[in-house]
Amino acid sequence: MFTPRPTAGDTAWFVHDRFGMFIHWGLYALPARHEWLMTAEKIDPALYRERYLSRFNPTQYDPRAWARSARAAGMKYAVLTAKHHEGFCLWDSAYTDFKVTNTPWGQDLIVPFVEALRAEGLKVGLYYSLLDWSHPDFTIDVHHPLRDHPDAARLNQGRVMPRYAAYMRHQVAELLTRFAPDILWCDFSYPNRSYNGLPGKGRADWESDQLYAMIRQLSPNIILNNRLDLPNLPADFYTPEQIQLTGWMRVEGEPVVWEACQTFSGSWGYHRDEDSWKNPEQLIMMLINTVANGGNLLMNVGPTALGTFDPRAEQALGVYREWMALHGEAIYGCTQSEFPTPQDCRLTQKGNTVYVHIYAWPFKQLHLPGLAGRVAYARFLHDGSEVPLTSSAWELEYLTVQPDTQLLFLPVRKPAVIVPVVELTLK
Ligand code: GLC
Repeated sequence: MFTPRPTAGDTAWFVHDRFGMFIHWGLYALPARHEWLMTAEKIDPALYRERYLSRFNPTQYDPRAWARSARAAGMKYAVLTAKHHEGFCLWDSAYTDFKVTNTPWGQDLIVPFVEALRAEGLKVGLYYSLLDWSHPDFTIDVHHPLRDHPDAARLNQGRVMPRYAAYMRHQVAELLTRFAPDILWCDFSYPNRSYNGLPGKGRADWESDQLYAMIRQLSPNIILNNRLDLPNLPADFYTPEQIQLTGWMRVEGEPVVWEACQTFSGSWGYHRDEDSWKNPEQLIMMLINTVANGGNLLMNVGPTALGTFDPRAEQALGVYREWMALHGEAIYGCTQSEFPTPQDCRLTQKGNTVYVHIYAWPFKQLHLPGLAGRVAYARFLHDGSEVPLTSSAWELEYLTVQPDTQLLFLPVRKPAVIVPVVELTLK
């Protein structure tokens, strides 16, 4: 069990709440084949804009339904892409015309989103892309759709990154002052990725230290992530993406506040034909694994062009809803346990209470190393039934129990929940 390095922003609620919803939404919901399609298909930004800006009309958008669904799934906050790499803005920014108010929908999407989240008691996060493939001052680089344009280098001569960096400061200031989010999620830096002589981008290009100072000044309590390429200015939280850590995340040897971000399928934006949707066990285990290693989970939904969650996403949220309704106590306020992990299990802990998440159902006995004589009472979370700590069964004579190991006596059949949890109250 670790205490992570202290943070400038207010992470107390964040490490308690543990579970949030990421929402990737933008024009890319229309083509519905990954939020990177502009660059994956090398679509000229002008063409992309012409094709999708005039057709963005999410007539089914109901942020209250999103907020209710997030809350029902046990999520305590949500982070929405105010602007993704395509450059399209979901709010009525004064600094661009590439924004939602210039679509058939015609209205700011973030205003009602923030209201809806607050009304459901959820914390608000906004994601802001540092990349911007549509901004005329954003130089062409490895990730840009025009990277293979024969005149890429010449086109870059007219592009002025400091002007783009100032644009970002204006926009981030707008987001912070208009919406007062609890989290700001900036994405991402790649200073070492050059391509055909086109350099990557990092703090020098974003003017990250100015941006950082401005964020801290405008929003002293905001929780800021680590993707500004500022190794000497500590971020509030670190963001391993699409991987499962096997221990507490450390930066320069020190445990830090961290949040894993994951997708239901491979794509962040709505991807109609993508087929690698995670199964219910994976979804629940991802959440448990993360908290068992002291982290948060930000699970992504990519709403459709109409503004709805598609049935597969609803189903996946339903998996969390059912499990969290019975097992939320083993997640909220919990962290990595001080005790060794029993075989085929994960542990989470909150003070004097240890939660044993049983991944593979054993036969009758579960061995808990390091806990002999320490447990006052054990019960299942899904039905509140007692789990005995002793037994007089004759077959125990044949059982080898390692020193300092406590036994739990389980029913033969696995209870009908995806991952059963035994709550141990310590003496
Ligand atoms: C990435 C991708 C992206 C996604 C993000 C979420 O860096 O660029 O599309 O928004 O990760 O963590």
